[in-house]
Amino acid sequence: MACTGVTAGRIVEQRAAAAMPGLAGIKAARSAAGKPAARAVMAAAPARRRTLRVAATATTDAPPAAGTANSNGGGTRVMIIGGDGYCGWATALHLSARGYNVCIVDNLVRRNYDLQLGLDTLTPIASAHERVRKWGEVSGKHIDLQVGDICDWEFLSQAFTSFKPEHVVHFGEQRSAPYSMIDRQHAIYTQSNNVLGTINVLYAIKELSPDCHLVKLGTMGEYGTPNIDIEEGYLTVTHNGRTDTLPYPKQAGSFYHLSKVHDSHNMHFAARAWKLPITDLNQGVVYGVRTEETMADKALINRYDYDGIFGTALNRFVVQAAVGHPLTVYGKGGQTRGFLDIRDTVRCIQIAVDNPAPKGEMRVFNQFTEQFSVNDLARIVTAEGAKLGLEVKTVSIPNPRVEAEEHYYNAKCTKLRDLGLEPHFLSDGMMDSLLQFAIEYKDRVNLELIKPAVDWRKSPVSVATMSAAVAKQ
Ligand SMILES: NC(=O)c1ccc[n+]([C@@H]2O[C@H](COP(=O)([O-])OP(=O)(O)OC[C@H]3O[C@@H](n4cnc5c(N)ncnc54)[C@H](O)[C@@H]3O)[C@@H](O)[C@H]2O)c1
Repeated sequence: MACTGVTAGRIVEQRAAAAMPGLAGIKAARSAAGKPAARAVMAAAPARRRTLRVAATATTDAPPAAGTANSNGGGTRVMIIGGDGYCGWATALHLSARGYNVCIVDNLVRRNYDLQLGLDTLTPIASAHERVRKWGEVSGKHIDLQVGDICDWEFLSQAFTSFKPEHVVHFGEQRSAPYSMIDRQHAIYTQSNNVLGTINVLYAIKELSPDCHLVKLGTMGEYGTPNIDIEEGYLTVTHNGRTDTLPYPKQAGSFYHLSKVHDSHNMHFAARAWKLPITDLNQGVVYGVRTEETMADKALINRYDYDGIFGTALNRFVVQAAVGHPLTVYGKGGQTRGFLDIRDTVRCIQIAVDNPAPKGEMRVFNQFTEQFSVNDLARIVTAEGAKLGLEVKTVSIPNPRVEAEEHYYNAKCTKLRDLGLEPHFLSDGMMDSLLQFAIEYKDRVNLELIKPAVDWRKSPVSVATMSAAVAKQ
């Protein structure tokens, strides 16, 4: 079901990118210029003091020449916090390929969650340093990598001072709802990492780069499932004869989703108090793994999570179908959410960067392209699997979450379309290639990690890391 209320797009996303996007453009430009690959310099620096805090590298190179032929970034400096993660890595390469000057800031903690819980991505991913080095070799573009924690003010302020971002794209949070519900410790970690990290970013912009535009990843899950249409961030209300436009009410469904709500409130305040330009992107559930740039070399491949903690609905179903595991529908399966292809995630970010929010405003975009229920997804995966000779079964399992399993859901998502987003829809052949991809890597699947093991109702005070990843049979 396509996103409701979509209007014909006013196309302001640069057409040049569509005409000669990404690596195709780079290859053409490089062969014309005969330029060698750019350097990827990463100097080691001392380890920092807190647990899960890793070394910082202050590595800003001289910015590359502003823009290149066939690109439209013009050397614009974009700091990507969380640029080693699923959405961030694809976005970093997408923007770098198009002539933006990209700096990745990441403490690599996502890799640490896998170590904590015994999880692994379906795809073998290279180290952050190797990825960036390989990108330099493949594309001739330099991406700066600064490894450190945004909750560490000393590190973050140094990263800002050295890179001088014009835009900060902030993906750098703990992003799993089940992870936040493992136990008290993981709930506290999620909220402190996410909320405090974002406050640091707000202070860094105010103090060090006051004209810098913040593009912050929120989630559609902030809204919950109200019995009225979901607007893009704000709702005009008439109450006792008076009318105002107010932040849309939030009814988040986990401590993770609540961390995003708190971020939104903090950003809304900072935009007003300090006249910061902020875009809050309430993203839907992302699916897919391939983008043009991440498929350019095996060292650039993106992560793909299928486990019960970090795997998202459609990506999980695809892997389940590929390995002959029944699709695990939670409860009645009427849970409906907004979804988008990772190729649209990266384009939405580019659109937000190219069209910054005005100073003093927290603009909100709902970043998804289609709505599906869990049962819709199971039907689609079953039908597409049959075309590949897979016999796909579905089981309903007790819902580990506390959520409505049948509900009204109609969320608006017109603003990014109005700014030029041309979506990839699930029906455009994506399922076939995603299934083929999962089949290619199916020998890496650990079947024990598929069933959900974190129960919202239990979430104990005692540390439950050992039981979090593998469900009791
Ligand atoms: N993946 C989805 O379907 C989805 C949907 C809606 C919203 N989002 C949001 O998009 C963002 C990115 O999601 P993702 O799937 O790429 O997550 P991810 O876990 O793959 O990536 C997040 C990255 O941020 C880094 N990070 C976390 N805390 C940090 C800190 N304190 N300092 C520095 N780096 C830190 C991690 O190491 C990781 O590389 C998140 O904010 C998430 O909430 C994702």
